[in-house]
Amino acid sequence: MSRPHSPHATALLPLLPVSRSPPPPPSPPPSFFSDRPDPARLRCWPIMRRVSKACSLRRAFHFVLALAVVGGLWLYFHTMSPWNNAYRQFRTELGVRSGMCNREVLIGSVRRGNWSAEQIGTDYRKRKASRVLLFTKTTYSSAFKAITEILTANRIKFKATVVGKNLPDLIKASKGVAKYSVMFFEDFRTYLDMDDWNRDILDKYCQTFRVGIVALIPPSEIGYGQLSPLHDRRHGRPLPLALDERPHLSNLTVNGTSNMLRVTRGGQTLYEDLMGEWVTFETTHSTYGAVAWAQEPKRALGSGGHESPNNAVVLQDFGKLDGISKVLFGGPMRHWVNVLLFLDSLSWLSQNRIAISLTRHILVDIDDIFVGRNRLYPDDVRALIDSQKRIRELVPGFTYNLGFSGGYFRHGTRLENAGDELLIAERHQFWWFPHMWLHLQAHKFSNVSDLEVSMAKNKAFASDKGIPVDWQYSVAPHHSGVYPVHEPLYEAWRSIWDIKVTSTEEYPHLRPSRLRHGFVHSGIKVLPRQTCGLFTKNLYYDEYPGGPEVLEQSIQGGELFQTLVYNPISIFMTHMPNYCYDRLAPYTFESVITMVQCWTHLDLRTTHPNALGEMYFQMYPDETQAIWGNPCDDRRHLDIWSSSKDCSRLPDFLVIGPQKTGTTALYTFLQMHPSIKSNFPSPKSFEELQFFSGHAYSEGLDWYLNFFPNRTQNIFLFEKSATYFDGELVPSRAHRLLPHAQLVITLISPSKRAYRWYQHIKAHEDPTALKYSFHEVITSDSTAPRALRQLKSRCLEPGKYASHLERWLVFYPSQKLHIVNGDDLTVDPVRVLNQLQHSLTIKPFFDYTNKLRFDKKKGFFCEAKDNDRTKCLGKSKGREYPPMSEESQVFLKTYFQTHNEALAKLLKRLGYFTPNWLEHDLKDVSEIRVQDDAELGDEK
Ligand code: A3P
Repeated sequence: MSRPHSPHATALLPLLPVSRSPPPPPSPPPSFFSDRPDPARLRCWPIMRRVSKACSLRRAFHFVLALAVVGGLWLYFHTMSPWNNAYRQFRTELGVRSGMCNREVLIGSVRRGNWSAEQIGTDYRKRKASRVLLFTKTTYSSAFKAITEILTANRIKFKATVVGKNLPDLIKASKGVAKYSVMFFEDFRTYLDMDDWNRDILDKYCQTFRVGIVALIPPSEIGYGQLSPLHDRRHGRPLPLALDERPHLSNLTVNGTSNMLRVTRGGQTLYEDLMGEWVTFETTHSTYGAVAWAQEPKRALGSGGHESPNNAVVLQDFGKLDGISKVLFGGPMRHWVNVLLFLDSLSWLSQNRIAISLTRHILVDIDDIFVGRNRLYPDDVRALIDSQKRIRELVPGFTYNLGFSGGYFRHGTRLENAGDELLIAERHQFWWFPHMWLHLQAHKFSNVSDLEVSMAKNKAFASDKGIPVDWQYSVAPHHSGVYPVHEPLYEAWRSIWDIKVTSTEEYPHLRPSRLRHGFVHSGIKVLPRQTCGLFTKNLYYDEYPGGPEVLEQSIQGGELFQTLVYNPISIFMTHMPNYCYDRLAPYTFESVITMVQCWTHLDLRTTHPNALGEMYFQMYPDETQAIWGNPCDDRRHLDIWSSSKDCSRLPDFLVIGPQKTGTTALYTFLQMHPSIKSNFPSPKSFEELQFFSGHAYSEGLDWYLNFFPNRTQNIFLFEKSATYFDGELVPSRAHRLLPHAQLVITLISPSKRAYRWYQHIKAHEDPTALKYSFHEVITSDSTAPRALRQLKSRCLEPGKYASHLERWLVFYPSQKLHIVNGDDLTVDPVRVLNQLQHSLTIKPFFDYTNKLRFDKKKGFFCEAKDNDRTKCLGKSKGREYPPMSEESQVFLKTYFQTHNEALAKLLKRLGYFTPNWLEHDLKDVSEIRVQDDAELGDEK
């Protein structure tokens, strides 16, 4: 019994050993899926036809003949060759390996390189410490974009600098260690043309710390066939290296003996024309060795000294001339072979300090089992099992992971129902995970119990059918409820299924996929899920959107291939229809796995989702806490967000502190404005939610939103948490959720702030503050008890205003920051509030003139009430205590000196006048210095 099929559909049949296949028919007859494929029509899958041209005996014969001709030239080339032994060795291997890489060769072969367990393992921490310094002409160039995408996808840290500027700090001043392990130049010529000063520093750095350089050499229109020597300006002589531009190159070959290869499996040839502009290298010097070269078929062989059928397009410089190892790329970084070689160049040039793991875990989820119209027939189920067996030969233990919705079991046609039955009969062949009973979206359930009822039905179905649901893993239909988080889903998952792991494509966003990360929420590990390019509608190869070549491209070095290369753990999302009709998913995965095994040393493995969850967060512990975004900023997120939730409740501005600078007064006075509303108080931290800076952040977005009133028209919402100002992670978190928010900061003298904090803590009977005087606290050293050091830190750290402000300025433009002089707020709050309304563009304007009144008894401004009465802040604000001692004042002014100087510069840059307290603090310091100098003079 056949499937309905597209008239143009090409049957995608089980992968066969390439070398045994008959040649593909010149124009394939319209074929379609059949229960029993005709062996005469069995042929290579398209990928193997393209990657390996040795599909047929005839081709193999031509290939050997061509090799013999080329071999005749070999001696000539051998004697004249600028290349080293590596090239010769490669040539002898060519006949054995090139184009012969297919499943048959791979099965049983040593798939893993000779790497130690340590090399294979991901040393994430090591990578974190090692960075790449990128020298670029402009951050808008396509080369810069390509490189930063590769680095980001592989979580390799980098810093970019524009060439021509002075070098950034290359050494960590505090530890004297190198900051960068590799230098990257978007154009090698900019390195050669660097001014003497910077070039000398850079070379010395590279030589001292054994840091290498990787560089691109883009074409410079030197002209086809014109050799152009590279000139080293610093040393006033040409390098023993010339370039040639080649418009038509093909057959890119990776040198199997290059000592740089780590990820890339050498000895492979890509038999196709190379797109884009390429430059080849010509040299006779032994410092250079070819990593990859290509052919230019149309040019006459050996017609000139530099001409040869093979020319290097990626070159290793072993540093014999200047002690600096380099790798030069003559082709665009968009080319996938260059991407692999670029990753290898990073590990070689950094002495393995930047080296991505060689282990890859792969899991293929099949969502929607039993759901929908296009369902598995019995032969599809058998084909699925066969595909699994074939993949297991390359990926030990590989098992398809099936997500079921029991509510639709046997709701199809006769054959589909038979397919359902066969799946159940063969259930132990697969791994299983629960979808929803009726494939409904979780965000549409407003309470936990409704979700629990639905899940319990699916669970009863699984138990009735004996489906092994072993891995505490689930996936939500359409990602609904996972991200943005719908708390009832997490609760119901835990209570019914004891779910520990899930996956989604949506965190933080679907695109770009290289930025997808994981997080842990409510005890459930959420792993990033990858898209393989197949969606529910994709049934036929020939009808693949954009044409089958789009799918092929993705498999052959494109997006899907690179996803596997970049991610130590890839969980792929597929749907049941991808396993019927042309069975695109088995074809895609078998092909890409073969491709990865042919071209890389990656060790493909599989393990169950629960173990993957553990593994993921061991590798990336920094990702544990999600950074919550605003669902309204992403159309897809909004579609899977409960209609009862409302992002208009998010605040328009934040009063971020720092503590003890008058933030409560500002908060109280702002609320008097009829158009300004704040959050409801928290039972734990009162008026402050401290969401972005405290434990509450792990509660999630729903928790935060529930503290804000529904927004009525013309209402401005704000939140005040004085702990935000100096919180390390707060600016990035706040920006992810509230990128358009305005920020209000109140500043007073940092010395005064420190003293107020000490008095505040003492009034709360903190034992350390009671035990030690303020002076003892601020002058305590690293040998002091922990509690004392902590108190010192809370007194002094927030006062380093400039560095905290700079951190906010990384995320928010300066126009969003509104700095209020805390002293002005104390003595003239009316002026401050009237001005602040203007800068925050709050309308209508509310004149505070008669709304605030100085209260003599309190000694501060308070809210003016009728009959000369006032409503002042509580006892804990505006306390009375003795003035700060002289010696502490002197100590603190010196302590904050550099920070205050930086602040003065920063405020000037932001367009603020220097506040009186800052002028005073700075002036006093210089006076103290003059005084000290005079004293020293006396001593002399
Ligand atoms: P003290 O209580 O040490 O005098 P915050 O609210 O940020 O914790 O800051 C508290 C400080 O605000 C108080 O410190 C007080 O000096 C200052 N302040 C400014 N205006 C005030 C006002 N109108 N009422 C009370 N305190 C005010």
